[in-house]
Amino acid sequence: MLDDKMQESLNYQLNRELYSGYLYLAMAAYFEDQDLPGFGNWMRIQAQEELSHGMRFYDYLVQRGSRVLLSEIETPQKEWDSPLVAFEHVYEHEQMVTGLINDLVDLAIELKDHATNNFLQWFVAEQVEEEESASGILQKVKIAGESGRGLYMLDQELAQRVFHPPADE
Ligand code: FEO
Repeated sequence: MLDDKMQESLNYQLNRELYSGYLYLAMAAYFEDQDLPGFGNWMRIQAQEELSHGMRFYDYLVQRGSRVLLSEIETPQKEWDSPLVAFEHVYEHEQMVTGLINDLVDLAIELKDHATNNFLQWFVAEQVEEEESASGILQKVKIAGESGRGLYMLDQELAQRVFHPPADE
């Protein structure tokens, strides 16, 4: 059985992962409205990944005999000034999520909850990938600049992204 504080914190992180999915789905809608369907595809898949992250927390809570408690997911931002601003937001958001995961690890260590610490290590590694991926695309968007041709080529590249369910990883 999990400590009450840990149960509450894992439920909060479940909510944050679902919010991340909601934010990226809002970005998908923004890019699709901007006639950049490849960027939209990348964001749709990012949203699917976030839902799968949320389900990891859901499944872990169930596995530990703890209660999953869903809470309100706030309305995400709807518009961004440019693809560059949107990807700056993605990168900042992922850095913020890394901070939340690190706080959870700190709590697990404080509570001597080795099982939860072990569970969280998947997310520690995942956040390294999330930040690398976001900053990599941010750099490409900077290089593409505002030029139509550069953004078009990047859009073609981002259209190739496919979703890999966690079991495939
Ligand atoms: Fe679930 Fe993008 O971190």
